[in-house]
Amino acid sequence: MNIQENVDLSTHSTMRLGGKARYLSEVSSEEEVRELVEWAKAKPVPFLMVGDGSNIVWRDEGYPGLIIVNRLKGRKILIDDEEGATISIAGGENWDEVVAWTVEKGLSGVEFLSRIPGTVGASPVQNIGAYGSELADTLVEVEAFDTENMAFGGIAKEACGFGYRTSRFKGADKGRFLITGIVLKLSKSQPSPPFYESLQAYFDEHQVTNYNRDTVREAVTAIRAVKLPDPSVVNNNGSFFTNPIISTERFEKLKAQYPDIKGWSMPDGRVKVAAGWLIERAGFKGVHDQETGMATWPAQSLVLVNEHARRTADLLAFKHKIVDKVNELFDIVLEQEPELLP
Ligand code: EPU
Repeated sequence: MNIQENVDLSTHSTMRLGGKARYLSEVSSEEEVRELVEWAKAKPVPFLMVGDGSNIVWRDEGYPGLIIVNRLKGRKILIDDEEGATISIAGGENWDEVVAWTVEKGLSGVEFLSRIPGTVGASPVQNIGAYGSELADTLVEVEAFDTENMAFGGIAKEACGFGYRTSRFKGADKGRFLITGIVLKLSKSQPSPPFYESLQAYFDEHQVTNYNRDTVREAVTAIRAVKLPDPSVVNNNGSFFTNPIISTERFEKLKAQYPDIKGWSMPDGRVKVAAGWLIERAGFKGVHDQETGMATWPAQSLVLVNEHARRTADLLAFKHKIVDKVNELFDIVLEQEPELLP
């Protein structure tokens, strides 16, 4: 075990803000995961596991315990038959490299989730989603170390508490399970329409009519490149807010007042509203806020960018400017999407 002390957490968040971790260690085997948890419990200090920090906002106060960085690697095909394949992927693998690998292997199911930043182990925490698909659609189980029982085991999809950008891993059981891997069931049949609106629009615009996992991956890659900043270059955590879900009645009232408001009907009869549109209309399109050093990404107002903020407090101050204005105008309280830790 190699445990570093007083590590700057800003290097473990793509927003590049936050205090220091008292202890930090990178793990590349399951034995190390157990050893580190035993070490932290004996000390005692709190502990938590992270991946690349693509969806983490660290508090300025830092973390008084042990951060375990997941570097577990490995990809296995467990079952391979005519219809598809069941694969097991270690949590420290890069998500998009795994997506590329599945597409190369002729497997469908995660190509819509191309180019989402971060690790495999982080993917179930917020049930990553894009272009009409989400992780829960193909996930069979999450493999994790249960720090209550000090045992490795599988958690079936049905027990993961998945919802829109959420799961039990960021809710009721936050911190209990260290996710070591995931099992996915992928298909050998090609993706077929109907596609998410902006994806179909891309196909039409580029006269693509052969729909398959390669063209889907190419299209999603191209759309994301235009709309979303690359976190290895620009400090950001992707969508900073979830799209709020409101009753049809409230949506109709808003629509009467703002005819071009964007929303999608959900299976449960409610409406998911485009937070990017609300933020834009609240006057935050492409703003550079001098006071906090924060900005919104010009092509996608839902993405907050750290241009020269010094502390997480600056980010949170900018967040509150947006939340307050949107609330004042639309009576909707935006919820933060990236996890605020600890
Ligand atoms: N819109 C605006 N202004 C903006 C942004 C969006 O008016 O600045 C409106 C447009 O009408 C647009 C609509 O909102 O057509 C929807 O925008 P988009 O398709 O870009 O999707 P989104 O709702 O803004 C969600 C996810 C993204 C995901 C895309 C594509 C959330 C919080 N965000 O964004 O996920 O890539 O759909 O599926 O659900 C992430 O979670 O980090 C993320 C980037």
